[in-house]
Amino acid sequence: MASPRLSLTAGPADPRSRALLDWYDRHRRVLPWRALPGRRSDPYHVWLSEIMLQQTTVETVKPYFAKFLALWPDIRALAAADDQTVLSAWAGLGYYARARNLIACARAVAARPGAGFPETEEGLRALPGIGAYTAAAIAAIAFDEPAVVIDGNIERVIARLEAIETPLPRAKVEIAAALRPMVPAGRPGDFAQALMDLGSGICRPRNPDCLLCPFRSTCKAAAEGRATAFPVKPARKGKAIRHGTAYLVRDGAGRILLGTRPERGLLAGMAEVPNTGWAETAPPDSPPVRAEWTRRNAPVIHVFTHFELRLIVAETRLADEPTPPAGLRWVAEADLPGEPLPTLFRKVIGIAG
Ligand code: ADE
Repeated sequence: MASPRLSLTAGPADPRSRALLDWYDRHRRVLPWRALPGRRSDPYHVWLSEIMLQQTTVETVKPYFAKFLALWPDIRALAAADDQTVLSAWAGLGYYARARNLIACARAVAARPGAGFPETEEGLRALPGIGAYTAAAIAAIAFDEPAVVIDGNIERVIARLEAIETPLPRAKVEIAAALRPMVPAGRPGDFAQALMDLGSGICRPRNPDCLLCPFRSTCKAAAEGRATAFPVKPARKGKAIRHGTAYLVRDGAGRILLGTRPERGLLAGMAEVPNTGWAETAPPDSPPVRAEWTRRNAPVIHVFTHFELRLIVAETRLADEPTPPAGLRWVAEADLPGEPLPTLFRKVIGIAG
């Protein structure tokens, strides 16, 4: 049963929190598990909705929430239900481990004195299927505990509000630290739900409505015109690296030995400096001519879409002007601009801009 709020203390100390709650009082979403303004939510409703909302949208959850309340109006009723009936009612919500935990949790709570939920985050966390986020959400929304509630929406709102440059997931520590002092002692449940509503309706991932936001004058990301740059995503995993050797051969006249790449594959049909090809481990040496080779200290590094190539350059200068080996040709430096030489091999020759 919803009961009147017990404590209505003075407004939040942080002016941003005050602005947010004022906004919430005007724009809060009406959701079936939410208490009316000024009322405390039924812990059973809060818990059931939070479990259902894990990895599922609000719109999907609404009819399931109504069905569950019609079938099992309180925690004792749900605890007494048989597993198969609950699992059937859950069908379509996905992640069936959640339904099994739901049943286990209902029975654990029904076995407690008065069949009441624990009222602290710590107590809630000990129950099946209740992780850090869910414990904080239930403690705040159902029991007005000043818990720091952080879901994906709230993470985005706070990362933008404070323009937190640290990428996720490391940013979580800073986000929690920024949010903790904002949680108002009087209305922590409304505060958490206000952030959720703001994140889903205004501070959207791609098209935030910054002009309508209660944080419009205090949001650091918006002030920089960079709302969508936050939260900063983790750096993509490093590219695969491939290694090889290119052979830069000059003859007595200063001409350079070039070949032509196969008609298929990477850089198909373009000109190339003779090379070993490339692979994760460097292919064996295969110089195009017998000579004394000097290897440059630093490889030529070239980034393709799917890998980074590190090409060692081995150089030699021949004394004479021999016939080129089969499939290769001598090209005068003056004629290089007319060759279809990709940037990679321009770098090898040392003519890349
Ligand atoms: N998502 C998870 N919990 C929610 C809540 N209480 N209100 C709105 N969206 C939510």
